[in-house]
Amino acid sequence: MSKSSKCESQRCDEAKSLPISRHRDALVRAVEDHVFLVVTGETGSGKTTQLPQYLYRAGLWKAGNIGITQPRRVAAITVAQRVSHEMRFTLGKEVGYQVRFDDCTSEATVVKYMTDGCLLREILADPLLSKYSIVILDEAHERSLNTDILLGLLKKTLCGVDKGSEGRSVPLHVVVMSATLETDKLSTFLGGCPVFTIPGRTFPVTSSFGSAIGPKDVNGSSYVNEVVRVALNVHSGELAGDILVFLTGQSEIEKACDLLYEKAERIDYRYDVQDQTVEGLLILPLYGSMPTDQQRQIFLAPPTGIRKCVVATNIAATSLTIDGIKYIVDSGFVKQLNHNSRVGMDILEVVPISKSEAQQRAGRAGRTSAGKCFRIYSNEFWEKCMLEYTVPEIQRTSLTAVVLTLKCLGVHDVIGFPYLDRPEERLILEALKQLYQFDAIDRRGRVTRLGELMVEFPLHPGLTRALLKAASFGCEDLLLPLAAMLSVENIFIRPGHPEKQKEADKKHRRLAAKAGGMNDFATLLSVFQWCKDSDSPSAWCKENWVHWRALKSAFSIETQLCEILLRLKQKRDFPVEVFTGNKSELFRRCLCTGYFTNVARRSVGKTFSTMDGHGTAVHVHPSSSLFEHEAELDWLIFHDMMVTSRVYLRTVCPIRYEWVKELLPKLHQVDVYELSNIAREEVDEEEVAKSESKEAKRLTEGSDKDVASKLEKR
Ligand code: CDP
Ligand code: MG
Repeated sequence: MSKSSKCESQRCDEAKSLPISRHRDALVRAVEDHVFLVVTGETGSGKTTQLPQYLYRAGLWKAGNIGITQPRRVAAITVAQRVSHEMRFTLGKEVGYQVRFDDCTSEATVVKYMTDGCLLREILADPLLSKYSIVILDEAHERSLNTDILLGLLKKTLCGVDKGSEGRSVPLHVVVMSATLETDKLSTFLGGCPVFTIPGRTFPVTSSFGSAIGPKDVNGSSYVNEVVRVALNVHSGELAGDILVFLTGQSEIEKACDLLYEKAERIDYRYDVQDQTVEGLLILPLYGSMPTDQQRQIFLAPPTGIRKCVVATNIAATSLTIDGIKYIVDSGFVKQLNHNSRVGMDILEVVPISKSEAQQRAGRAGRTSAGKCFRIYSNEFWEKCMLEYTVPEIQRTSLTAVVLTLKCLGVHDVIGFPYLDRPEERLILEALKQLYQFDAIDRRGRVTRLGELMVEFPLHPGLTRALLKAASFGCEDLLLPLAAMLSVENIFIRPGHPEKQKEADKKHRRLAAKAGGMNDFATLLSVFQWCKDSDSPSAWCKENWVHWRALKSAFSIETQLCEILLRLKQKRDFPVEVFTGNKSELFRRCLCTGYFTNVARRSVGKTFSTMDGHGTAVHVHPSSSLFEHEAELDWLIFHDMMVTSRVYLRTVCPIRYEWVKELLPKLHQVDVYELSNIAREEVDEEEVAKSESKEAKRLTEGSDKDVASKLEKR
């Protein structure tokens, strides 16, 4: 038997000895007996991989599918792989998965792992979830935005508010799974439902603080070198046992792995390591956008004498359990999407983790024996820079897409919706305002025709609006590839080596120039097309320092977006418009309809100012083809921002003021309180009609023009 297949069969035996296995029958009964059930147990006890199998074997799938949601796509994919393997099914048959833009299910699929976002989309098409008999919301403690919304929706439907079960032939059972935290709160929220606790055994973990990272490093300065140093110390100074290192993202993880390879090469195992049974180091990265076959390696036991060192994002904190870990090296940071009120946008930021998160990370070392956690940050950092608990995503990110989804589901009162933790009203109002600006809802807070079309696309509403505009002109071929390119990460390779970096930069500049120059959106579009049209797309990517894997995903995403659009065009009376200008102008004008909330105008020198009312001073990012051409520019739109000590705009293109002139006043005119009041109350149609005619009068009397002319003068 080969080493790897031996490991695989060993692991199937282990499934039987997981803490959950002794509670199999009681668990199945508890699910059958209740509408809502909360299941809790230490991470690694077998909740995610085993419970769906128990329910399957008990025959519960005969009444309808078993769906399991995950906040992270990697978890959905790897767990489905694992479970189909344990059950000896081909992945995509009885057991499958679906994540955004990647559907690996078939007619035969009855156990379906998916992201929470996917289930939310399914509810849009089928509010009673009639295909399912059991829905499991996994990792509820992560408090992802979509899981929180699903909790509220299912509570609303099944706790009798809407009596949603009435239309179903069989009742729906909902299981909410959570690592030990907050189970009482969940149970209370779900009408006092029972909590099933899987007793687990954990071993003590001793944690120590370092001295390299203190409160002055709170913005995430260089901790990679320190993490690498500590990991190597563990390797040379500690007894056998695998290491798990927590960092924040792909590029950082790759850098750390490179450094580790380099330094591990120089170890002389006769003299440099304490434990003489340790003869080598196996370094493995683990992050979300990694190819899945590579991710599987993480779970395999290393060869005898070899110490495994996994360098991971937060995904290894709860979603995925790696056996054999005895040592943790904790950077103390995480990458998080936060609404930044300074710039009025969601920004991906590196921030300190919370204390509870740090404890969760440390706990990963104590699953099978006593372990150690090395925190590279100081005790003072812990005291001064780390919150007690992580703030739920619903309280820190933009709610625009979610509010539109809720409204399309008939939830008009988005303020009175049953939230497990209520988002600040400010965030809800901000979402309503954006939807109104995009014409997705009307003054009464009701979804418009455009809004109904927009909700069908798993994209940011602004980008969807630009895409729909292009489609109405019959030029969706310009926006579909762009939307796909903006939906994948890291198109352009950034090598660590300075010489190679220069070479890559040169190639990237050449691509931008060939695409017409000074328009980053057009560059993305052209890269997509050139690569697709080339004889060997993978060779083309290599030659041009472009990530082939990212492009491959973009091709598949474009096809899927195209299918959605075709379906909509067939089903509804799709708007049609005519345009008589050149293609470059048409492209940018379509972009303006979705990106007018992201307009900046040059103020002085190389500084621009945003036009959304925040008036933030911003700069063009050095990676943009517009960088160092700032003096030639006046108005521009941008895709996103990066906030360091300065605010940078990324993916930028110049526009003309006339193209946004009519749209910009909308940014300043919305009365969010009106939108929200109407969202809250049953609307008095007559009053609304009166106020609308008043509003129309006010607009024609020139306030619109006033704002426009003021903007022009600025
Ligand atoms: O959900 P919970 O944290 O309770 O545990 P789980 O994810 O079901 O993990 C149970 C066991 O399956 C652990 O020992 C994991 O290491 C293992 N597992 C695996 O080997 N490969 C996967 N893709 C997922 C889990
Ligand atoms: Mg789990």
